[in-house]
Amino acid sequence: MASDATAASSRITPAELSARKGGTPIVCLTAYTYPVARLLDPHVDLLLVGDSVAMVLHGHKTTLGATMEMMILHGQAVMRGTRRACVVLDMPAGSYESSPAVALASAQRLIDETGCDAVKLEGGVDVVEQIAAITGAGIAVMGHIGLQPQSVEKDGGYKIKGGTDAAIATLLADAKAVERAGAFSMVIEGTMEPVAAEITRRATIPTIGIGASAACDGQILVVDDAIGLTVDRVPKFVKEYASLRDTVAKAAVHYAEDVRARAFPGPEHIFQPKG
Ligand code: KIV
Repeated sequence: MASDATAASSRITPAELSARKGGTPIVCLTAYTYPVARLLDPHVDLLLVGDSVAMVLHGHKTTLGATMEMMILHGQAVMRGTRRACVVLDMPAGSYESSPAVALASAQRLIDETGCDAVKLEGGVDVVEQIAAITGAGIAVMGHIGLQPQSVEKDGGYKIKGGTDAAIATLLADAKAVERAGAFSMVIEGTMEPVAAEITRRATIPTIGIGASAACDGQILVVDDAIGLTVDRVPKFVKEYASLRDTVAKAAVHYAEDVRARAFPGPEHIFQPKG
């Protein structure tokens, strides 16, 4: 359930973001925790509690490690830390593919148990009925086409999409399907730049790029990538706006030195009885 603080807030709505098609680019980041959500909230339009949380915070090899319970726990934390941004929760693999009814039940649970503003699911033509069932029930949906991390095992790795005429046709059809099913926006991930630009030109809903094109109506990055906290491989499409890896490592070295030298805690950090 949404907390009192989040319920009383005035958030950017999916409909408002949808109306920004072709306007000022929509600023999106992922967030998974309360403190990071609080820090990002004043500066972004949309926070995605991505299923990337399974990799970024829980150390899974792929996003297939995400569960409904994991998404709900992190969704609740992000909702507590935000008043302004539109908060979208990823539907984890296995929670929507089997049927429109299953997809709707999962989406409704994510909304009911977190109070988030919308859900996101991966796929195009193959999930059109799932998206339609969810939007038909009045729940806002963000689509996700192009490279779909939940399909990484099926695809045999993280493969950039749109390199052949057939792949371009598939992407264009996926974008159209997602739009027709009623999504308010769609993520385009890991595609050849001209295809993402063309989808953006043709679509009537905003496209949010990641490894896609500067022409998209908005951009998203995984927050740990953007702040330089990612400890494994940093993908080519990431720009690091800070280098928290170094900051954290230096702080740990300094702390360890202080503890070993009994320089911490100092007099200012300890409690002495009065008198
Ligand atoms: O899970 C995630 O973080 C995502 C974004 C990369 C778009 O889906």
